[in-house]
Amino acid sequence: MTDLLDHLRAAVGDDHVLTEAADVEAYVVDWTGTQRGRALAVVRPGSTAEVAAAVRACAATRTPLVPQGGNTGLVGGGVPDGSGSAVVLSLGRMRAVRDVDPVAATITVDAGVVLADVQTAAAAVDRLFPMSLGSEGSCTIGGNLATNAGGTAVLRYGMTRELVLGLEVVLPDGRVWDGLRGLRKDNTGYDLAQLFVGSEGTLGVITGAVLRLFPATPRHATAWVAVPSVEDAVALLALAQREAGAHLATFEIANRQALDLVLTHLPAAADPLRAPSDWYVLVELAGTASDDGLDHSLERLLDLGVDAGAVTDAAIATSRAQRSALWALREGISEVQKVEGATLKHDVTLPIAGLADWADAMGPRLQELLPGVRLVTYGHVGDGNLHYNLNAPVGGDDDLRAAAADLTTAVHDAVAAAGGSISAEHGLGRTKAAAAASYKSEVEVDLMRALKRALDPDGLMNPGVLLPAP
Ligand code: FAD
Ligand code: MLT
Ligand code: ZN
Repeated sequence: MTDLLDHLRAAVGDDHVLTEAADVEAYVVDWTGTQRGRALAVVRPGSTAEVAAAVRACAATRTPLVPQGGNTGLVGGGVPDGSGSAVVLSLGRMRAVRDVDPVAATITVDAGVVLADVQTAAAAVDRLFPMSLGSEGSCTIGGNLATNAGGTAVLRYGMTRELVLGLEVVLPDGRVWDGLRGLRKDNTGYDLAQLFVGSEGTLGVITGAVLRLFPATPRHATAWVAVPSVEDAVALLALAQREAGAHLATFEIANRQALDLVLTHLPAAADPLRAPSDWYVLVELAGTASDDGLDHSLERLLDLGVDAGAVTDAAIATSRAQRSALWALREGISEVQKVEGATLKHDVTLPIAGLADWADAMGPRLQELLPGVRLVTYGHVGDGNLHYNLNAPVGGDDDLRAAAADLTTAVHDAVAAAGGSISAEHGLGRTKAAAAASYKSEVEVDLMRALKRALDPDGLMNPGVLLPAP
């Protein structure tokens, strides 16, 4: 082990190999506070060459490696297990924007660049990098790529997978694959970059990326809309797709329980509507500087929604401050759930046609398993993706923890039965790897294991994440 630490220090410099418990703490506990591991050391390389040297040192000693970006992941994939045998490799020092090309509409960045900084660099050349997550102030592009992150812009721009053109990756044996090509057309064999997207650090360490940019959308029309049910939210979505077409940028749902937690815990939050509703939708249209009619389109959409019985009330933002206040109601939910107490997350997608029936049936089933459990349901309904999250019954954090496995199995079984997915956008990490394998066919799991073996024959890259130990 001393040998390994010496090699790591030689690779990245003494100051960037952390071993003291106080220094390592922030890297071994996840954002939820529920996944805690131990690390042999935390290594903080400052360049691709340093990443490669650190990976080679680990490979030579058969030491497992856990790549880490902003450590905002929600499935325990970025923190080590409890064995203390792994090195955490943090990309946090690799924060250079390498190139921005507004005409080619590409941006080339180090993997450790924080998502909000990519958005800012794109805006500086009057372009848009559309990915948007509640964690955008701390998550990194490497983490976004490794998890194939979703967020609130997927409806219009797609998942991270659709925003990437090329990657630079340090392979498990320490070789560097330079695939930083910004070509829109490149049919020269297997799409290797896509192989690493969504691989959760199990196939290599992403060190750089060429990402797609889009025309800036400085114009917005935003509303917080009361809808009676999930079914009505889906009906309004269909109207919005028809009326707003390509301008439809955001279509997010939240139930009253979610809003109540935000109103309780976010001091600046206020209910924009007079009467409470069971469900709400945050809808936003976005356009370029020359798109004049967005306000009118939004009003027309809401009128149509009222006529169809799918909308009971709405607050339209008339200033930037009001727009931010409406967004804060949606973006604040993850944080306030944590503040409220014990939480159980279920990040599910369902075929959109069956979403409402699924949610209607699920609530009573969970109440049977844990009376008083609070359903904090929200998410990217435009993508068929619900965060079907739970908070403990008031004062019953231990009860939620005791019932967690049964509750999660009930949700996941119902998702599988309805043809959905148990991970829409957060990935599998350590917390869902076994469950996902149990719902997949043997053929699918075999193919995944074959890919893993081909790239990482010694199984050193993030073992136990994405695929359960064989
Ligand atoms: P980490 O948490 O550090 O790591 C996540 C995974 O990626 C791990 O498996 C890790 O090993 C791997 N990894 C990290 N960097 C690299 C790299 N350079 N090379 C190879 N592997 C790497 N997610 C969504 O999809 N949509 C949302 O709307 C959303 N909202 C969120 C809101 C909040 C408040 C929070 C806390 C999280 C949210 N997330 C969301 C989850 C999280 O932010 C994303 O999964 C994000 O992509 C993780 O990025 P990160 O840099 O923090 O990665
Ligand atoms: C979000 O969309 O806010 C997050 O992905 C949901 C979560 O934290 O569970
Ligand atoms: Zn989400």
